Amino acid sequence: MAIGRSCSLQILILNLIASNLYQSCESFLTPPSSIINPSKVKQVSWKPRAFVYEGFLTDLECDHLISLAKSELKRSAVADNVSGQSKLSEVRTSSGMFIPKGKDPIVAGIEDKISTWTFLPKENGEDIQVLRYEHGQKYDPHYDYFTDKVNIARGGHRIATVLMYLTNVTKGGETVFPQAEEPSRRRTPPKDDLSECAKKGIAVKPRRGDALLFFSLFPTAIPDQNSLHAGCPVIEGEKWSATKWIHVDSFEKNLDIGGNCTDLNESCERWAALGECTKNREYMIGTAELPGYCRRSCKVSLISGKSSLYVQREQRLKRMEVGQMQRRLVDYTKSLFMEGFLDAQFLQLQQLQDESNPDFVVEVVSLFFDDSEKLLNDLTMALDQPSVDFKKVDAHVHQLKGSSSSIGAQRVKNACIAFRSFCEEQNIDATLRCLQQVKQEYYLVKNKLETMLRLEQQIVAAGGSIPMIELGF
Ligand SMILES: *[C@@H]1O[C@H](CO)[C@@H](O)[C@H](O)[C@H]1NC(C)=O
Ligand SMILES: *[C@@H]1O[C@H](CO)[C@@H](O)[C@H](O)[C@H]1NC(C)=O
Ligand SMILES: *[C@@H]1O[C@H](CO)[C@@H](O)[C@H](O)[C@H]1NC(C)=O
Ligand SMILES: *[C@@H]1O[C@H](CO)[C@@H](O)[C@H](O)[C@H]1NC(C)=O
Repeated sequence: MAIGRSCSLQILILNLIASNLYQSCESFLTPPSSIINPSKVKQVSWKPRAFVYEGFLTDLECDHLISLAKSELKRSAVADNVSGQSKLSEVRTSSGMFIPKGKDPIVAGIEDKISTWTFLPKENGEDIQVLRYEHGQKYDPHYDYFTDKVNIARGGHRIATVLMYLTNVTKGGETVFPQAEEPSRRRTPPKDDLSECAKKGIAVKPRRGDALLFFSLFPTAIPDQNSLHAGCPVIEGEKWSATKWIHVDSFEKNLDIGGNCTDLNESCERWAALGECTKNREYMIGTAELPGYCRRSCKVSLISGKSSLYVQREQRLKRMEVGQMQRRLVDYTKSLFMEGFLDAQFLQLQQLQDESNPDFVVEVVSLFFDDSEKLLNDLTMALDQPSVDFKKVDAHVHQLKGSSSSIGAQRVKNACIAFRSFCEEQNIDATLRCLQQVKQEYYLVKNKLETMLRLEQQIVAAGGSIPMIELGF
């Protein structure tokens, strides 16, 4: 007992001394935000090498990054209003924003801290990207390293990623490594508070101020396939994150190669005059992947040449665009449920669709269209007879009711129910009115479903995935 107490007392005193030393250094040597405390770092996984630094950012730093991203959004919205470039603002109003390196002392301080923690030079980093995820938004599993020449032309491979969480997320929004191996000595923490998506691997729960560092390359510089990671859908709350991608080499060098269309050899002009631009195109102008040496003398425009910088910017915009389309799809689909066009049956159909059957919903929906149009035709003819066979009419309506209910076309189904009651009464005027009603509802829902499926196609064509809709509203 006595030993235990004196031991812990000693530790207490040592801690006090240490923290005093620490504070006094802190107060006049370095700003408090750039001190790295290794004891706050926990290993998440060794394959890939992933670590979480608890409380890496202060509240002030988190709020600052969020407000920079928000004001950038606002600024571009206003600028576009003035110039009338609505297309651009459509792209920009989505959730991603890049914050220029060293934009202000707080951003520079964060970048210093990242460099100190990772032992990687600041110049190897890209601009910090701030992202906002709203309900249902996610990033599907992907790697941060690139395999194409264009993207590694500047700064080489991405070696590491620092992902900083700027807000707490009530539910979901975890970063998950589906192929990671758990460190052997660690007990698995309870996974109760993780979303289903996060349980599919080793997951990091977003917590305001925490930072996740993981490496996309092995120390041998070979891409580490275990670094596959995903952002789980946000189920409750709003997620803001800030990402710093770090390359093996300076990301600031070669900024102008191809980009401003310079000549990289003093003989370019002479060579161009000798017709080398066509004879020796690959060297002079370059390929789709790498810019050539004499782009200025060969008069290559920025766009057609596609410098790596240009391609990167294009990809960023595309990612943002996909995010925006996904949000539009979610909103549109929700409105179909709220206005009663669709019911839960439709969700069940969507859940039946998977990778082995990617066109399931489209197929079922087009069957429904064919079937309904045939039945509506039959109904129109049957009601057009001099003496109407109400039994037959009722049988058609019954069939239409069944097919609309199997797809969850609620309003068509309800119109059919009313229709059938008038068939029973053999009321010709009322049944004719019902037919008009059913037709109207059918063409409405057809139009809406087509719009929805078109949006889905656009998302897939742009390389995105269809967000899952949940009936939690
Ligand atoms: C954008 O312009 C419209 C008129 O074209 C104006 O009504 C609106 O207030 C402007 N919005 C902003 C944010 O300036
Ligand atoms: C975020 O969650 C942590 C606990 O996980 C809590 O200590 C902290 O106060 C929360 N921050 C905010 C801003 O809600
Ligand atoms: C183009 O790049 C060259 C070389 O890097 C640089 O000296 C020049 O100022 C750049 N020109 C423009 C217009 O950016
Ligand atoms: C220009 O090209 C010549 C011939 O290939 C080469 O010897 C020279 O080093 C090049 N100059 C530069 C600046 O790359």
